[in-house]
Amino acid sequence: MTSRIHALPTQLVNQIAAGEVVERPASVVKELVENSLDAGARRIRVDVEQGGIKLIRVTDDGSGIEHDDLALALSRHATSKLQALRDLERIASMGFRGEALPAIASVSRLILSSRAAGSDKAWEIEGEGTQAQPAGLSQGTVVGVRDLFYNTPARRKFLRTDKTEFSHLEQVVKRLALVRHDVTFVLTHNGREVFCAHQADDRASREHRLADLLGPAFLDAALYFEHAAAGLNLSGWVARPAFSRSQADMQHFYVNQRMVRDKLVAHAVRQAYQDVLFHGRHPAYVLFLDLDPVLVDVNVHPTKHEVRFREGRLVHDFLFRTLHQVLAEPATQIPDSGEREASDAPPPKSSEVGASVASGWQTNMSLHVGERREAYRAAEAWQAPASGAVAINRATAPEDASDTAEHPLGFAVAQLHGVYILAQNAEGLVVVDMHAAHERIIYESFKRAREDEGIKSQPLLVPVSVAVSEREANLAEQHVEVFAELGMEVGRLGTRTLVVRALPALLRDADAERLLRDVLADLAVHGDSRRILEQLNEVLSTMACHGSVRANRRLGMEEMNALLRDIERTERSGQCNHGRPTWTQMDMAALDKLFLRGR
Ligand SMILES: Nc1ncnc2c1ncn2[C@@H]1O[C@H](COP(=O)(O)OP(=O)(O)OP(=O)(O)O)[C@@H](O)[C@H]1O
Ligand SMILES: [Mg+2]
Repeated sequence: MTSRIHALPTQLVNQIAAGEVVERPASVVKELVENSLDAGARRIRVDVEQGGIKLIRVTDDGSGIEHDDLALALSRHATSKLQALRDLERIASMGFRGEALPAIASVSRLILSSRAAGSDKAWEIEGEGTQAQPAGLSQGTVVGVRDLFYNTPARRKFLRTDKTEFSHLEQVVKRLALVRHDVTFVLTHNGREVFCAHQADDRASREHRLADLLGPAFLDAALYFEHAAAGLNLSGWVARPAFSRSQADMQHFYVNQRMVRDKLVAHAVRQAYQDVLFHGRHPAYVLFLDLDPVLVDVNVHPTKHEVRFREGRLVHDFLFRTLHQVLAEPATQIPDSGEREASDAPPPKSSEVGASVASGWQTNMSLHVGERREAYRAAEAWQAPASGAVAINRATAPEDASDTAEHPLGFAVAQLHGVYILAQNAEGLVVVDMHAAHERIIYESFKRAREDEGIKSQPLLVPVSVAVSEREANLAEQHVEVFAELGMEVGRLGTRTLVVRALPALLRDADAERLLRDVLADLAVHGDSRRILEQLNEVLSTMACHGSVRANRRLGMEEMNALLRDIERTERSGQCNHGRPTWTQMDMAALDKLFLRGR
């Protein structure tokens, strides 16, 4: 059943191309808005009817299209953005393939109207191959797309409800508005304004806009940072792990202002959050990576959602290290609602990473990550507790309790119901979840010890024998070296009996039997030794949970102050290993407000 080879008609060629580029109304909007951005628009309006299926109209104030170019704009492989192969290697514009408009026009009723900058007349055409007619337009370009997929019923069937299509479309406009804060975006649906994001040129107004687009809770939890190294520049807002989400729906990553979904990027970010996020939770962020366009290939897929980095490893490393460092920020205040002031233009609410211990806590000083690291190192009095004593017993209470500048978390005043430590610092009241905080401290010191000279173990005065199943006993026997790595010495006494002879020095007071059972459970989950060694941090986290002070244990003042000092010194101490906050601050203003007290 062979037929003769023949060239496909243009319309069909375009429809085939549309299959790749135009999946749904949201993809039409992406292409049209990107064209407006490429034309230098400062104001872009998107009007939509019935989820975009009935109508999408994008109006911009960009440079416009000359009369003679109008028809070309609708023909395939015609673009003003690319001349030669070497341009393809350093693309600065959003578009370059010259196929979006013809593809869209082939599956809808499209009208393109434009007035080129400097021209005194506007023109419009309806579809490819038609004559340009005079139009009434004072500047820029308007593209109207009606009845999407009216002539390709098979594709139309894939469209969902108006509501679903609109929510995809809205997400696309938001994503573009998040990165191009120099442009005003207006979105309307069925004649109703959905949002209007005004141009923003400083950080305060950018954050205002960010809060409008992603909600104020994101901004409250966000850390802002900028970091540049080796020609790579990363900046943006990352939410503290306590603000994690059950969906990966607040992850906005841009490479040279283009939103991408990239495996390498996703992996690096996930790794940076690895042990501060609870299993199955997703971080939230808006991140901008900028680098020389030569180092990144955007011509991977027609939708341009994927990129290929020339130096993949370097980029991965840079992303991971930078974010890991940002998230490790010790003793960064977790804002509470009491901090918010009602005003028309609120000041930036996100914390600036850089309020380092050395330079004075909660200053507005902006240190970049590199400098911050220096400052932190200088201030860092941390030594892994080589003596092996549980961290909480080390430090002693201060002589001079007014010395809060050096001690951002201040000094304990009481313990509440055996769960919380109340402390007074320069700002006001600090409330610490003692179990969560201690757990994080132990976990971090475990990790440090493992990286340095290994986890120290301490022999038990009286070894503890533990009855287990035969399977568990076998498991333990196979994994003696894993136990050793964890600072535990475990032996087999009989078919169903194990003995614990030594515990990690950090956990010398822990319940040996329970600890052994939990580690065995972890071993059973992770399977072979190699995997366990990879997952050892998880096991350490389990152990830390056991070793940390339990709720309902009474602590003396000295112990409480020692815990506060440890929190200040410990990386990532703002959250416990499961991503819950470990402490929070209520400043005097917030307390005053509770009592309607003016100062
Ligand atoms: N809003 C606009 N303002 C000014 N010129 C535009 C606008 N939209 C399209 N054009 C012109 O029409 C041409 C074709 O647009 P089209 O989107 O089809 O291709 P492209 O943007 O060059 O590449 P891609 O297919 O990758 O998007 C563009 O190169 C540009 O010159
Ligand atoms: Mg385009």
